[in-house]
Amino acid sequence: MAAFKRLSWLLAASSLLSSISAQPSPEVQKRISAAIEAAAKSNGSDIDYTQFVNVFIGTDNFGDVCPGASIPFGMVKFSTDLTGYAPAGYVTDNTQTIRGLSPLHDSGTGSSLGTYGNFEIMPLLCPHGFDTCTTSLDARERFRLNNTDDASPGYFAQTLDNHIKMEATSTRRAGLERFTFPKGSGTPYFVLDLANDLPESFAGGTLDIDPDQGRITIGGHWGSSFGPGQFHYQAFACFDLLDGGNQQLKEYGVWTADDFGLDAKGLGMTHMNLSIDLIGDVYQSGALFSYEGEPEEVNIRVGISFVSVDQACSNAETEVGDSSFEDIMAQSKALWNEKLSKVEIDFAQTAPNVTEMLYSSLYRSFLTPNNATNETQAEFANTTHFYFDSLYCSWDTFRTFYPLMSLHSPVEFAQIVDNYIDGYLKRGWMPECRANNLPGWTQGGSSGDVIVGHFAMTYHNEASELGIDLEQLYAAMIADGEVNPPEWNIQGRQVNVYKEFGYVPFAVLDTMSTGRQTREGSRTLEYAFEDFAIRQVALLLNKTDDVETYTNRSFFYRNVFDPNVKSDGFTGFSQKRFMNGSFAYVDPIDCSPLDNSTRDCSLQDDNSVGFYEASSWEYSFFVPHDTAHLIQLMGGNETYVNRLDHFFSAGLFDPSNEPSFQTPIGYHYANQPTKSVDEVRNLVFTSFDITPAGIPGNDDQAAMATWLVFHLLGMYPVPSSSQFLVVSPFLPKYTIHNSFLNVSTTVTVQNFDPRSVQKTIPHGAAAYVKSVTVNGNVQPSRCHIDFYDVFRVGGEVVIEVTSDKDSVNSCGASVPDSLSTGGFAVAR
Ligand SMILES: *[C@@H]1O[C@H](CO)[C@@H](O)[C@H](O)[C@H]1NC(C)=O
Ligand SMILES: *[C@@H]1O[C@H](CO)[C@@H](O)[C@H](O)[C@H]1NC(C)=O
Ligand SMILES: *[C@@H]1O[C@H](CO)[C@@H](O)[C@H](O)[C@H]1NC(C)=O
Ligand SMILES: *[C@@H]1O[C@H](CO)[C@@H](O)[C@H](O)[C@H]1NC(C)=O
Ligand SMILES: *[C@@H]1O[C@H](CO)[C@@H](O)[C@H](O)[C@H]1NC(C)=O
Ligand SMILES: *[C@@H]1O[C@H](CO)[C@@H](O)[C@H](O)[C@H]1NC(C)=O
Ligand SMILES: *[C@@H]1O[C@H](CO)[C@@H](O)[C@H](O)[C@H]1NC(C)=O
Ligand SMILES: *[C@@H]1O[C@H](CO)[C@@H](O)[C@H](O)[C@H]1NC(C)=O
Ligand SMILES: *[C@@H]1O[C@H](CO)[C@@H](O)[C@H](O)[C@H]1NC(C)=O
Ligand SMILES: *[C@@H]1O[C@H](CO)[C@@H](O)[C@H](O)[C@H]1NC(C)=O
Ligand SMILES: *[C@@H]1O[C@H](CO)[C@@H](O)[C@H](O)[C@H]1NC(C)=O
Ligand SMILES: *[C@@H]1O[C@H](CO)[C@@H](O)[C@H](O)[C@H]1NC(C)=O
Repeated sequence: MAAFKRLSWLLAASSLLSSISAQPSPEVQKRISAAIEAAAKSNGSDIDYTQFVNVFIGTDNFGDVCPGASIPFGMVKFSTDLTGYAPAGYVTDNTQTIRGLSPLHDSGTGSSLGTYGNFEIMPLLCPHGFDTCTTSLDARERFRLNNTDDASPGYFAQTLDNHIKMEATSTRRAGLERFTFPKGSGTPYFVLDLANDLPESFAGGTLDIDPDQGRITIGGHWGSSFGPGQFHYQAFACFDLLDGGNQQLKEYGVWTADDFGLDAKGLGMTHMNLSIDLIGDVYQSGALFSYEGEPEEVNIRVGISFVSVDQACSNAETEVGDSSFEDIMAQSKALWNEKLSKVEIDFAQTAPNVTEMLYSSLYRSFLTPNNATNETQAEFANTTHFYFDSLYCSWDTFRTFYPLMSLHSPVEFAQIVDNYIDGYLKRGWMPECRANNLPGWTQGGSSGDVIVGHFAMTYHNEASELGIDLEQLYAAMIADGEVNPPEWNIQGRQVNVYKEFGYVPFAVLDTMSTGRQTREGSRTLEYAFEDFAIRQVALLLNKTDDVETYTNRSFFYRNVFDPNVKSDGFTGFSQKRFMNGSFAYVDPIDCSPLDNSTRDCSLQDDNSVGFYEASSWEYSFFVPHDTAHLIQLMGGNETYVNRLDHFFSAGLFDPSNEPSFQTPIGYHYANQPTKSVDEVRNLVFTSFDITPAGIPGNDDQAAMATWLVFHLLGMYPVPSSSQFLVVSPFLPKYTIHNSFLNVSTTVTVQNFDPRSVQKTIPHGAAAYVKSVTVNGNVQPSRCHIDFYDVFRVGGEVVIEVTSDKDSVNSCGASVPDSLSTGGFAVAR
């Protein structure tokens, strides 16, 4: 999701100025570079992989990455919250100010409202005492001390311009906050929010101070960051203020404030109970407290729960207990190393930027979704299944996120699949865009089908050992594919009209269900690919009739292909289509980067172009399961290749969003794989780097990160299949470990030329794939390999590259699979 994309573009232009002074301390990059250099010399034993991670990549230029302290898949992510457009809390833009440090965030989401940010705490100096403290949101905000922000896996720190330093580290559901005041600051004060969150969605809650125990508890309801405002979720926090008796409270009380002059404090008061403010606005409120003895350092323990205040407190007690800040940080670092070491590389032979991009991207690929198992509410209360929050959104993650997970983390993948299936069991359909524990907006339909389909296609042999019942998984897919929800904005698809017409018609009379009647072209294309996923699992499970039904439905993409539409000299584009079969013309350039209009292209009500967050130019290429036939529709291989060339050279390609993920490798399907290699080199060096602005769009729960990982590794997945395209690695050697299968796969690039690792591969530099050898067997095609021959069994893959581009610009025995040319014939 890159919601409210057009807004992002406008803001992007204005943020260029401010991003000139990148905010992380220059020490962060120096430290990472030194660690990479040391690793290159050390020969690879006892490597601390967290040192190579730059958590600030994607914190500028609308990457919306959260650099906060988190464990892998942590439910809590501690970060500061800044003013302005900052959906993940933190942004590098130093013209924005800090309102506090808080424990709940999502990473990478393009929500224009922002997401979470509840339970914010802000350290203050109040030289004139309790009643004079600047508690309101506007009064308390401060600039940062420029160029001092610091963070690494499991650790986050930011210093205010008054030199108060705020640090955090975390467990799954709890953490420690540490505040250091400059010497001689006097009494340290803290303001803690009851009501405020980033989307300003408070719907009532309570706050209690227990001064003897030194504990503040908060519970309340808040709203969605990307879903219907009518829905609310519950969240709870438990703040332990005394650091196991090392600290003593001086004053405590409550406060309220608003924008109309209210600024009241209640010294000694311990209870607040506020309801929703129906006129809108945040009813600003919370606790205010100070410490005896003018301590320079204050430690606060925080527990979070989505179930109850008691559980929030017990999470802090069991997960943090008496552990020190350093202990918790070390635990977190160890958990990160366990994840990051799943991919090993040869540091000496790998370009430092590639090392940094790779491990930073892998880091984010383990950062979300947020593991809220045992923290369930509403329909999911007390479920016996695993539970993940922030599936934000499946439309973003089915393409590369889960396929990457299938290479090294089947246990975690299975837990998330279990959670998708539980969504079907509890709500009737699998979740599409769960955000803040609430159903979020659907984008292309039920992309969860492709995610669970990918799991089934790669781990069906181990499914029951991994706790997945394949028949139940299939039942969940069939529900998505057959059962039309009464309201399909939040789950399922508009399958009634799709099945009746063979496409989602524009301006359709639907008397049985409700939803935003837009995106008919892209919904048809995505529904068709979701049907391919169902077809794949049907094939696996020998559901012969369903295989035929869903194979046919996966061809429905053809029904929105208007063979007569012309654009820039090319003919035939996907278009909206009326019920009577006539096409409703839309300029294929609309919603591309070349679109000069002011229209929005996401879910806004002025997106009537028929496509979601992309143009017809872009989406017309989206048929990952049947590109061979698409090529025919587009006029054959030569025209198709010219069309891709034009798409990139004319600037129609939009790397900032997911519909573009497939296009750079499209040349493989026309038997011209070297052109994919050139296009991917160009993409990586044009759109990605190691700076905070180093990703081209919202990370979208690491969709971008995992897109980059596949490109660096020289592979590209076909979701809901076991096929991988071979492109060209950016590094000479890597090993992927799969501890569940107990196998390791080492990919070695023979003739690797470091000069090829740049935007334009220079003449004479080897980078074009000549042969692919898997465990001693030369593969008949140099364009694709299969999970079952490689990553499932492990072993050695040798990719031989050459600089003689012309001699290898063909796939050999076969191009990657397409249904209509007999591909995907068997499920392995
Ligand atoms: C590093 O590894 C290489 C190759 O395995 C070996 O030749 C070299 O001696 C090692 N260097 C050190 C310092 O251990
Ligand atoms: C940090 O930089 C911003 C933007 O240039 C500036 O407005 C602010 O005053 C600076 N802060 C400090 C403490 O120098
Ligand atoms: C808060 O107030 C509401 C409505 O006034 C009441 O129903 C609820 O029980 C109160 N909660 C607490 C914890 O006092
Ligand atoms: C969940 O289980 C707890 C403990 O058994 C119980 O107190 C609570 O009522 C249950 N919640 C729901 C919604 O069933
Ligand atoms: C939740 O926690 C309880 C107690 O720690 C545990 O027995 C149970 O298995 C957990 N549930 C899940 C789904 O992990
Ligand atoms: C999620 O949390 C549960 C409960 O602690 C744990 O059993 C599971 O392994 C975790 N999964 C991931 C992917 O973090
Ligand atoms: C499907 O049929 C094949 C071939 O007869 C068989 O090997 C496989 O076990 C069957 N799979 C299932 C899930 O029944
Ligand atoms: C699938 O399509 C083929 C070819 O159009 C047709 O013959 C067949 O009846 C269709 N099958 C089903 C189950 O729709
Ligand atoms: C189909 O319906 C549209 C919208 O009502 C109309 O503009 C178009 O002329 C119709 N086409 C035919 C062939 O009747
Ligand atoms: C957009 O504006 C540019 C510059 O004014 C113009 O050259 C181009 O033709 C316009 N594009 C479209 C699609 O209108
Ligand atoms: C495109 O090239 C592939 C691979 O050489 C070939 O199999 C296919 O027939 C060609 N398609 C067309 C429409 O010419
Ligand atoms: C590495 O990244 C930095 C920062 O983006 C950039 O200045 C430098 O050119 C890059 N180096 C290479 C070899 O790509």
